[in-house]
Amino acid sequence: MSYCGAKSMKILGIETSCDETGVSIIDAAGSFGSDFSFTVLGNALLSQAALHAQYGGVFPNLAKREHAKNLVPLTQEALAEAHLLVNASQTDAAALLPLKELLAREPELFEAIIPFLIKYERPDIDAIAVTVGPGLEPALWVGINFAKALAAVWNLPLVAVNHMEGHIVMPLIEHPDILKDMSISGHMRQVSFPLLALLISGGHTELVLSQSYGEYTLIGQTRDDAAGEAFDKVARLMDLPYPGGPEISKLAAAARAEGLEPLMRFTPPLMASKDYDFSFSGLKTEARKLIEKHAPLSDDNKKRIALALENCIAEVLVAKTMRAVEEYGARSVVVGGGVSANTFIRGELRAALENTDSSATLLIPAPSLATDNALMIALAGYFRAENGEYADPASTVANGNLKLA
Ligand code: KG4
Ligand code: ZN
Repeated sequence: MSYCGAKSMKILGIETSCDETGVSIIDAAGSFGSDFSFTVLGNALLSQAALHAQYGGVFPNLAKREHAKNLVPLTQEALAEAHLLVNASQTDAAALLPLKELLAREPELFEAIIPFLIKYERPDIDAIAVTVGPGLEPALWVGINFAKALAAVWNLPLVAVNHMEGHIVMPLIEHPDILKDMSISGHMRQVSFPLLALLISGGHTELVLSQSYGEYTLIGQTRDDAAGEAFDKVARLMDLPYPGGPEISKLAAAARAEGLEPLMRFTPPLMASKDYDFSFSGLKTEARKLIEKHAPLSDDNKKRIALALENCIAEVLVAKTMRAVEEYGARSVVVGGGVSANTFIRGELRAALENTDSSATLLIPAPSLATDNALMIALAGYFRAENGEYADPASTVANGNLKLA
């Protein structure tokens, strides 16, 4: 592809913050804005959701083990797809020596990476980007150690990526449904600042204000459970599989289609508070009482509870976001994180924005790119690398509570 003369960079992105193992390779050029362009060369993603389903949530040590098992095969898959996998003509055993120490705490990964590194040449890549937080620390560490190992052996620079910045970048990219059609090139959407990001996932519910790319102010966050956590916990109370968000959403959609009423109205939490904080832990308590009262739950009552919950969560998210749009004069509203895959919440936000004087543009990723993936890490990593922001491997650590601001 043509980059209008700009030097392009191939970034290999790695994501292991929660229960998705992702490896993505992009070829990108240009700075943040209209001259940015990229091609997805390879993308591999494996969800552990089915494995964690039996525990009703993500089990950190199981996640870590699975990442350790899957990182090498997924990297191989992404490199093969990118046509960057070349058999090595000779082995430089000395280059592998630092791995013994680097992967001292990742024996499984060590076993898997050695034959891989012996078999294949150093690929034509310019940098390795890896999620360093926020997320589950044991899970983050595997990805970080893997990235450090590749960077050391292949002599490549390392880029540390904040997972939440990945969720912010994803909706800014103009793309068809990339994960379904890999031979894809993309650009950036028209992004105007101030930008307000509503980040809603299994671990986070945040409103973040950005005056320019890479600069963030946290204006509100959840005081307890995240929005996705509320979906997951109430789903669990109704014996629905993990992750609960999509399940609740399906039931709520069925309730609407069948004209069912919510079984009760959950009180939308912190609606009257002047700040932009959220609180979702009370919803599961309300839901528990309701579920106990109507036990055993009929199929209709499950749908009516799902409807009540989705309505309530949407109402709070929309109200706080709209108030922040007005107060800060936001010109773009970005919605990211797994819960942004929710059709009803997307629709309610769109409708609310259309019904105000605000001319803010709503930017939401395709549902398949709303949940965790490594493409968003490669993209966010590219903008850091392009800005010369490389990480020192020796001091790069996992930070489960890493903040954007
Ligand atoms: O961003 P993500 O993949 O992982 C985290 O960083 O947490 O988000 C996962 C969360 C889970 O809580 C899941 O239930 C929720 O996103 N989720 C949804 C939907 N799809 C995923 N919640 C509501 N509706 C959905 N359609
Ligand atoms: Zn996420």
